[in-house]
Amino acid sequence: NDLYAVVGNPISHSKSPRIHSLFAQQTGEAVEYTAIQAPLDDFAGTVRHFFERGGKGLNVTVPFKEQAWTLAGHRTHRAELAGAANTLYLDQENRLVADNTDGVGIVRDLRDNHGVSLSGARLLILGAGGAVRGVLGPLLDEQPGGLVIANRTVTRAEALARLFARENRAIPLSACGFEQVAGPFDVVINGTSASLKGDLPPVPADVIGANTVVYDMMYSLQTTTFNQWALDHGARRVFDGLGMLVEQAAESFCVWRGVHPETSTVIEELRTD
Ligand code: ATR
Repeated sequence: NDLYAVVGNPISHSKSPRIHSLFAQQTGEAVEYTAIQAPLDDFAGTVRHFFERGGKGLNVTVPFKEQAWTLAGHRTHRAELAGAANTLYLDQENRLVADNTDGVGIVRDLRDNHGVSLSGARLLILGAGGAVRGVLGPLLDEQPGGLVIANRTVTRAEALARLFARENRAIPLSACGFEQVAGPFDVVINGTSASLKGDLPPVPADVIGANTVVYDMMYSLQTTTFNQWALDHGARRVFDGLGMLVEQAAESFCVWRGVHPETSTVIEELRTD
């Protein structure tokens, strides 16, 4: 079997080994997929060792995605824009290549799994960290009618808006603090890590209208704090990030194996695990 793994710290709760073994079963690909906890001070050594012993591909998660991007000698265009990598492999010349499948993951989940059209939609994204930068390119590729990036630290939102405005001159892009956002929006995406601490980004409730679709990039067994808040303020539909997690995994699997697994049964299985 060809060897793949996810690298992070901590890593024991990662769902990636389960997801990829379901993909391998389903597609009949000879894939073995494990989880590796890299020491915080030696991500590079862990990656080198993995490929030296014949490993074929890595997924990378918290806190190493930026390091993975820096380490790679070659980056796909979408990884370049994302500023972080969640997928690594060696190309035919044995160069380490960095890719990022997170953005494709959220777009496929919204558009294909949930039937939410982003084309022409007024989009609000909360947060301006690595997770948000990772998905902005593919979201903008869907040609939303406009995009507002709101963040606690406004300068970080402004920096992202400037960076992505260069490649997307036709789409109105703006940045502001949470309190300044004026709604309602068609789609609101929470990309802050506030919910990890049970916090809510303090956006005015009028960002949510009767037709607003809300997507929390986090996932949990119960409705997330942000999604509950959105439902309480009348959101039409709310989704968490489980589908995105499976979709980014499917895209990585396809980058490595050339086969795109079917995702809906895998999402269902994970939901009931
Ligand atoms: P990630 O990889 O998850 O994006 P990050 O780069 O540290 O991690 O970014 C975390 C994001 O969540 C940032 O947008 C952060 O806001 P700041 O840029 O102002 O730090 C946001 N965030 C974290 N905790 C938050 C909280 N309690 N309330 C609101 N926003 C929060």
